[in-house]
Amino acid sequence: MATVSDESIFDLSGLDAQAGSEHMVALDAAQARFGRIAEILSKDKVVLIQGASPADADRLISGIAAEFGLSEELEIQAGFAAIHGHRKNVGKYFMTVNERGDYHFIPPHSEGNSGMNMQISSFYCYENTTDGGETILWGSSDDEDVWSDMKEFKYKVKTDRTELTKMEIATLKMTCEVEWPRDRVKEGDDLVHLMDTPVADVSRYGVLQPAKKNHSRILGVDRFVCWDTIGNVDRDIAKEFIKALRRVGLFKAPHDIEDGSVLDCSLHRKVWSSGIRLPSIFNRAIVRKLRAGELVVMNNMTWAHSACGWTPGTGVRRVAAAFA
Ligand SMILES: [Fe+2]
Repeated sequence: MATVSDESIFDLSGLDAQAGSEHMVALDAAQARFGRIAEILSKDKVVLIQGASPADADRLISGIAAEFGLSEELEIQAGFAAIHGHRKNVGKYFMTVNERGDYHFIPPHSEGNSGMNMQISSFYCYENTTDGGETILWGSSDDEDVWSDMKEFKYKVKTDRTELTKMEIATLKMTCEVEWPRDRVKEGDDLVHLMDTPVADVSRYGVLQPAKKNHSRILGVDRFVCWDTIGNVDRDIAKEFIKALRRVGLFKAPHDIEDGSVLDCSLHRKVWSSGIRLPSIFNRAIVRKLRAGELVVMNNMTWAHSACGWTPGTGVRRVAAAFA
């Protein structure tokens, strides 16, 4: 089984390594060509573009998305930000990242879920002068054995009815994140809790379904992905993340806190404990404290992102995200 030791991943090798490293290629914004960036991403490396203005970041992400036929997806994601209201648009394609409370951290996850199949994630830094606030990227392993234990949280429905009306199908889609008939509870799904009954005789549940592979357009292969609906619902992924940060002195917390998990941004979304260890689902890690004018771009399906908290009042962290 191709796993790596605690040591090699938990020491987050070469903390905040100089821009270029084994898994990350640094380019200057003025010289960054779309073809070259696409080539680096196709080798499953992360691209760090330095010296980019906000306008450069928009131009670059648009060109990179086009290289993989993802221009429409980039537009759609920027549009969703405005509709859902939890993020605000910044520039053309970027949006604000979620607001965080004091010391709060974000556990490793790839953006979106297996139904959305988001291919590219990128982060642009306006300012990052806090004591902390490092970005940590995690390269996922392709080990079937490890992933066979992982579960994804999803809303699904159960009913004895065989047919639903068009209006009922639309209601499930628009208000419940349920696609009929695809999202019916199946064998292998664990029911977590009953949510509601939005349509007559149809019960909606939160379920944990077995993780499955999605197609990576960048690599041209199917891969398991630590989606938001996997990484942010599992207590053990957060615990392992805290353990990794503590080990290298990147975990920021008030002195009187014993259980660091209360500082997890997605604490309210936890539904289970997988027992997973990070050095098995991930086998590479990059630590980068993003500097102003840096744009980091990755394959969203093979690189999960996470972020450390910071000591309150020590500076400003302003980072925007774009997805396609
Ligand atoms: Fe995210």
